[in-house]
Amino acid sequence: MGLSKKILVIPGDGIGAEVTTWGKAVLEKIAAVYGHTFTYDEALMGHVAIEATGSPLPDETLEKAKASDAILFGAVGHAKYDNDPTAKVRPEQGLLGIRKALGLYANLRPIVLFDELLDASSLKPEILKGTDILFFRETGDVYFGEKKRSDDRNTGSDLMIYHRYEVERIARKAYEAARLRSHRLCSVDKANVLETSRLWREVVQEIAKEYPDVETEHMFVDNAAMQLVKNPKKFDVVLTANLFGDILTDEASQIAGSMGMLASASIGDGTGFFEPIHGSAHDIAGQDKANPLASILSVALMLEISFGLKEEARKITEAIDKTLKAGYRTGDIADSKTEKDKILGTTAMGKKVLEFL
Ligand code: IPM
Ligand code: MG
Repeated sequence: MGLSKKILVIPGDGIGAEVTTWGKAVLEKIAAVYGHTFTYDEALMGHVAIEATGSPLPDETLEKAKASDAILFGAVGHAKYDNDPTAKVRPEQGLLGIRKALGLYANLRPIVLFDELLDASSLKPEILKGTDILFFRETGDVYFGEKKRSDDRNTGSDLMIYHRYEVERIARKAYEAARLRSHRLCSVDKANVLETSRLWREVVQEIAKEYPDVETEHMFVDNAAMQLVKNPKKFDVVLTANLFGDILTDEASQIAGSMGMLASASIGDGTGFFEPIHGSAHDIAGQDKANPLASILSVALMLEISFGLKEEARKITEAIDKTLKAGYRTGDIADSKTEKDKILGTTAMGKKVLEFL
């Protein structure tokens, strides 16, 4: 019997709408083939929401999010705010607000390399081949600590803060995942300097005892940043705090060839939220240049994690694999060997994946 699920699509800003269109199209095809019924609603977030309602995360969006079984999200951000540090209302507040409101404390970022893209990376293929990392990025941290600016505006501070329970709950999720993978977990912190990291390490060491079958390593974040490009294969499950995870996963996206290839899942206690790791990319928005594969891979994560549809998720990854094997590339993952007529725009790439699905 097929499943019946309500999916909220939040395209957001920039290339968000272009890429989620294809994520949704893939969902529709999967539903048709496997006999599932997915119904869709749409909501605003980010700059588009600010323009329409004054808020980056309108109440209506939050209500719809809470009423849905899973959320497919595009991107938020606008150059206007990037160059205006004084702006009080910002598109990113929408994304951070929804992660918090829905209790999405764990952001999972799989770094999976399609063999066909070995040459698209700026790193050497022999270093990359076989890399398969799963990041567990906590989503609180200094992002949500108190932010202050002195009256004379010359001093700013952001409070970096962690509570034991926040580390415990994500650590357990990461260890559970490690059990299903190669039983290796690397916890990344800066315990040689930061008190939050010392708490982090202490708690992870305790949780580690519950998982004696998983080999735990602790690594400082600066070293991890270096090891990631030196020998990415040494990592399997990586557990880390929000800011470190934000930075390390952008770095790790180069292993996969492009930010345009990486999907993520934000999970917690309720509705799952599925999003590419790339941003709104306003420089290419509306030009049919964006890579839709991260959105399509986000859909695969949704099917697997929120709905338990492993077979359907695998079908999507296979379709992408076939598309890449047939030589098709968007601009961001094309290289000197790509045939000119196989460099596709967003629409043509989305259609190719559907053909192979
Ligand atoms: C990400 C993004 C966001 C973050 C921004 C848009 C707030 O960079 O999802 O990695 O820092 O979490
Ligand atoms: Mg980021």
